[in-house]
Amino acid sequence: MKEIDWSSLAFGYMPTDYNVRINYRNGEWGKLEVSSSAYINLHIAATALHYGQEAFEGLKAFRGKDGKIRIFRLEENAKRMQSSCEGILMAKLPIDRFKEAVLEAVRLNERFVPPYESGASLYIRPLLFGTEAQVGVKPASEYMFIVFVSPVGPYFKTGFKPSPYAILRHFDRVAPLGTGRYKIGGNYAASLMAGEEAHKRGYSAVLYLDAKEKKYLDECGPANFFGIRGNSYITPKSESILPSITNNSLMTLAEDLGMTVECRPVPVEELATFDEAGACGTAAVISPVLKVDDLDENKSYVFSKDGEAGPVCTKLYNKLRAIQYGDEPDTHGWVTIVE
Ligand code: PLP
Ligand code: COI
Repeated sequence: MKEIDWSSLAFGYMPTDYNVRINYRNGEWGKLEVSSSAYINLHIAATALHYGQEAFEGLKAFRGKDGKIRIFRLEENAKRMQSSCEGILMAKLPIDRFKEAVLEAVRLNERFVPPYESGASLYIRPLLFGTEAQVGVKPASEYMFIVFVSPVGPYFKTGFKPSPYAILRHFDRVAPLGTGRYKIGGNYAASLMAGEEAHKRGYSAVLYLDAKEKKYLDECGPANFFGIRGNSYITPKSESILPSITNNSLMTLAEDLGMTVECRPVPVEELATFDEAGACGTAAVISPVLKVDDLDENKSYVFSKDGEAGPVCTKLYNKLRAIQYGDEPDTHGWVTIVE
């Protein structure tokens, strides 16, 4: 194997040794299968291809100083995949089968878990989709669940350096009573145009507003959004955003640090009152926000004057990473050690 330069990894796909699969047929999930092929044999009329019956997850494994591999919040990702399956009428994979498959995929690809010192991690991508042929619009009765992994570095090129975000009022990612709270492929297809426009204009991602009134903050491309004001951690509550497991963890850590946590609708203008802001997610970790430009309104909200991350974002980031890499005790029971 060619040596991997762990510390210069970007967030991307790298082939690894194995992936694992479980098929759902005749009303039940079958045995876990191990594959060394990155391809699948799929019916041309599969519901995944035509009607978007596809959900995925994203979680990470970290190698600690002690050499142990830790998976962060495995159970929460398993539960969220079940919720996504309910949302688009797919067969739900039992939590234990999800865990078994993720653990096996990590064990089989252990040599791809980056070393502690690199600051990189192993991204784990479970996906579940309809494989049965249908031409009418209806749910499949056969599904496939796959877990593959890829070693990754930071999602946004700037890593922990603050970067700019844009509000583009002429795009919505999801409908007010739509599928925003599920992690399904269709939501990401719907975000590509806005994301491209933001990138072309020099922004890391789009900060979406609520689609109904365009009055409140929703989320930040592939991440949730939070603002810091004084001793408060403030994050949007919305029916149309993905319930981020990272955000949920940061709310707990903020409370541990003695901060007040507010999860509620956040009006756009409130951006002007934040001392710091961040995008948070498995891939994004915490990506501090330099500024938010509300382009159609010609307004700009600046959160970092010196181009560096603020003290609260830094504290939260360090705390989260310390738990993920095993440098600090896992007091909330968030970590699964791969044996
Ligand atoms: N929001 C969206 C749309 C996402 O794709 C993600 C990534 O998973 C997140 C938020 C962050 O969620 P999590 O922290 O569970 O990774
Ligand atoms: C994640 O943070 O896990 C994501 O899924 C974000 C993106 C790569 C879709």
